[in-house]
Amino acid sequence: MEETSSTPGAPAEQREPSRARQSSEPLISVRGVTKFFGDFQALKDIDLDIHRGEVVALIGASGSGKSTLCRCVNRLETITDGEILIDGEPLPEEGKALTALRSDVGMVFQSFNLFPHLKAIDNVTLGPRKVRGVPKAEAEAQARELLERVGLADKADSLPAALSGGQQQRVAIARALAMKPKALLFDEPTSALDPEVINEVLDVMTELAQQGMTMLVVTHEMGFARHVCDRVVYMDQGEIVEEGEPEAFFTAPRSDRAKAFLSKILPH
Ligand SMILES: Nc1ncnc2c1ncn2[C@@H]1O[C@H](COP(=O)(O)OP(=O)(O)O)[C@@H](O)[C@H]1O
Ligand SMILES: [Mg+2]
Repeated sequence: MEETSSTPGAPAEQREPSRARQSSEPLISVRGVTKFFGDFQALKDIDLDIHRGEVVALIGASGSGKSTLCRCVNRLETITDGEILIDGEPLPEEGKALTALRSDVGMVFQSFNLFPHLKAIDNVTLGPRKVRGVPKAEAEAQARELLERVGLADKADSLPAALSGGQQQRVAIARALAMKPKALLFDEPTSALDPEVINEVLDVMTELAQQGMTMLVVTHEMGFARHVCDRVVYMDQGEIVEEGEPEAFFTAPRSDRAKAFLSKILPH
């Protein structure tokens, strides 16, 4: 309060630029979300807003609920309680609106999930053609651009089996981008990869981040979380325990749980 009164007469938006930014509607808004699998509570009263262009790292031990949260945002799982808004709209139950939502929010999985019998380019054109009704020639032209963007212009006609894990994951990213999503969710996109190809995927993700894509990234790559992401969200046992600006989180975590987690994963 005292700080704002030090610039008397200035319009509110000049005095409080950060508040002005916060008042713009989040692209993804998770409010009071709980999720039960039978008696087991996988998500406990989760609140998380992600603004346009924001890149958020979601970290935490195995079983803490990170994948479940992503799957709820993309509506691959139903939520038990609370609400999730995408661009101000509540998640639809099913049908056409749900298909549209799924294309608004793209998802990249640990296990690529490419269709093995389809060439790279056909994996990328499938969604736009089937879901959006984009004509073949247009879908292919766009797919070639996207494959070029992920560094795979020369692999358009390759089957997934002929590609390395890193290349397959980059095709999966191109496929997600082909739906022109408003946001992308990544669930441990490099965890299944050989160490030598992890960086080629992280490089593509870094470029997307720099180009302004809104991203929620479940990752164990702490360098990426620290240097590319705007914010780190730390989950444990179905709860968000702590969140903050990466440098502050990694150098001075506040909670004992985050301290214990970081002491296990950061190099000695
Ligand atoms: N379909 C399911 N049925 C029952 N339990 C599940 C299901 N999916 C996840 N869980 C449980 O929910 C918890 C959180 O899982 P998950 O979201 O996959 O964690 P993380 O991605 O952080 O490793 C785990 O205890 C897991 O066993
Ligand atoms: Mg997981």
